[in-house]
Amino acid sequence: MVAFDDKIPGRVKSSLAKAGNVVITSALPYANGEIHLGHITSTYLPADILARYLRSTGHRVLFLCGSDDYGTPILIKAEQENKKPEDYVKFWNERDQKDFKKLGISFDIFHKTSSEENIKLAQHFFDVLGRKGFIFKKTVSQPYCEYDKKFLPDRYVKGTCPYCNAEEQYSDGCEKCGRVFEPGEIKNEHCALCKRTPVRKKSEHCFLRLSAFSDELRDWLLTNNNLQADVKNYVLKWIDEGLKEWDITRDIPWGVPVPNENNKVFYGWFDNAIGYASTAIKYFGGAEKAKQFWNSSKIYHYIGKDIVYHHYLFMTAIRLITNEFKAPDYIPTRGYLLLQGKKFSKSRGWYISLEDFLNEFPPDYLRFYLSSITTYSQHDVNFDWLEFQAKINNELVANIGNFVNRTLTFINTKFGGVVPDPEDTLETRSAELENELVDKIKCIAVSVGKDIESNSHDRALKKILEFSSACNYYLQLEEPWKNKNNKTCLYVCANACRTLSILLAPFLPFASEKINNMLNVKTADWLSASELKIKPGHKINAAEILFNKVEDGSIRKRLEKLGGAKELLNIEDFQKLDIRIGKVTSAENVPKSEKLLKLMVDIGNETRQCIAGMAKFYKAQDLIGKNVVVVVNLKPVKFMGLESQCMMLAAEKDGSVVLLKPDKDVGTGALIR
Ligand code: 2FM
Ligand code: ZN
Repeated sequence: MVAFDDKIPGRVKSSLAKAGNVVITSALPYANGEIHLGHITSTYLPADILARYLRSTGHRVLFLCGSDDYGTPILIKAEQENKKPEDYVKFWNERDQKDFKKLGISFDIFHKTSSEENIKLAQHFFDVLGRKGFIFKKTVSQPYCEYDKKFLPDRYVKGTCPYCNAEEQYSDGCEKCGRVFEPGEIKNEHCALCKRTPVRKKSEHCFLRLSAFSDELRDWLLTNNNLQADVKNYVLKWIDEGLKEWDITRDIPWGVPVPNENNKVFYGWFDNAIGYASTAIKYFGGAEKAKQFWNSSKIYHYIGKDIVYHHYLFMTAIRLITNEFKAPDYIPTRGYLLLQGKKFSKSRGWYISLEDFLNEFPPDYLRFYLSSITTYSQHDVNFDWLEFQAKINNELVANIGNFVNRTLTFINTKFGGVVPDPEDTLETRSAELENELVDKIKCIAVSVGKDIESNSHDRALKKILEFSSACNYYLQLEEPWKNKNNKTCLYVCANACRTLSILLAPFLPFASEKINNMLNVKTADWLSASELKIKPGHKINAAEILFNKVEDGSIRKRLEKLGGAKELLNIEDFQKLDIRIGKVTSAENVPKSEKLLKLMVDIGNETRQCIAGMAKFYKAQDLIGKNVVVVVNLKPVKFMGLESQCMMLAAEKDGSVVLLKPDKDVGTGALIR
């Protein structure tokens, strides 16, 4: 029998830095679609784990985020859905907030870049940058679509990456090699809406003189030891290769208005990164208070590896030059999420939506699985359904759930729900094992905490699982169900459950709350996990199952669904086709051919020759004057020596062929979209 309280030499000294202020941000999601699991893995979940952990260690944390409302992709999507951009982004802002809540992402504030605060701050920063000589104006020749009657910035233009030759990239950066482009740099540019080659029109734009700030950015990178070394190295390389001046204005009607300019707004990446600070202003109700907190804080910006350039260079330069909100201390950068080894693709059905996942599994399962497989690096992470099942069943259910459940059930059934007094213990099997476990309780919080602080969340979880295994081992060996006099064991185990609940709280907030309810204890601070706070005589509540197994059937269904995922085309694939309404202006049979007709088709701005296999179904003269549907951007092919420069669309069934025609006369050249 041991008097445990006497054995506890007070708190084990913490390695934690003195509690202070911390600002944590997650990359602001574009307000144009559902949050996807990739962003959760790299950005929202690790930031939330740190925020929850730091709050429980007594830090003052501001964990913020908001929707990224501006920019051409959003304008395009709103146009496609016939919505006002304001209404469109409001919908997604609200939807995101609901999804984050369901997953337990504990933002202190979720705001938006189209807020008053952000508009004001972006305009103010622009003014400061100008006064400090970092803004200059230059007339650029900009792509302009004569057909759509608009300037075509960024995502309105697609083409080939000038660095890695990846096709169908947007004109502001390559998703394949990660480079960002200056306007006009992309090759083979075409309008993203109508596929036509744009013309060039002149427009005066404001540029940020980024190159003039190269030395400061280099110094900042070299002296900031908190940044990931591998990321830092390639960012330094970008600087050494020479930074380009950054065009920060656009000729579109949706964005933060540029002061003293008509019809111009800021480029989305100018104002969205300012959104972090403007959201702090909203939170504190004013710029002064926000600055006070921000500038006395450690600043963490969690991002995925696709937006390194924007955060390490653009955003940091703006913050260093304006010198009002300090530059980041940490920019934790993680890789992409794959599904069964392949890139997620919504259009091909190779995809798991958050909503779909949470309809079947508890949010903690996703949090647990993703945290356990994601390292602190830019390496891609693989979501594997079988591994998911194995981890949930073996680690959550059989290890943690089993220990908590056995302990609490036994206290309830054999001791009327009252934690027994170790003083009454007549015998234990292994005092040594007991001491070892108590020692573990005393040390584990500091050790796991260090891993969370250093962003090694996978390692932290592993330690928690090892601790839980040790608890299970102890319980199994002591067999209190055989020896009712072994009260020490249940006393220690009840306390170990409490320790587990505190350690799990950043990772599995829902399960942790459930354990607290069963234990009848309140949420406690992190370091108290090292203490045996539950005293003999404490009354606990009924035990409930903490985690349920993931059944084979549900994994089988998931895999079958993926197996059946079709090679679907995405809208971009469809949009590659230039399909128009044409009018047949002349038609004749191709000599010596039973099948072929030679037609001339007016397609709006020109007339094309079409060799069509229609002779069996239509008389040549009956086609003259008919409106038809033609694909006009296929490579020309030759039939019987005659070049076919377009293809007429027809429906075919049971051997008969019928030409497609428009429902009403819309004129030649009208586009099929
Ligand atoms: O890449 C993205 O999804 C952007 N919306 C991220 C913006 S983060 C920021 F700096 F605002
Ligand atoms: Zn166009």
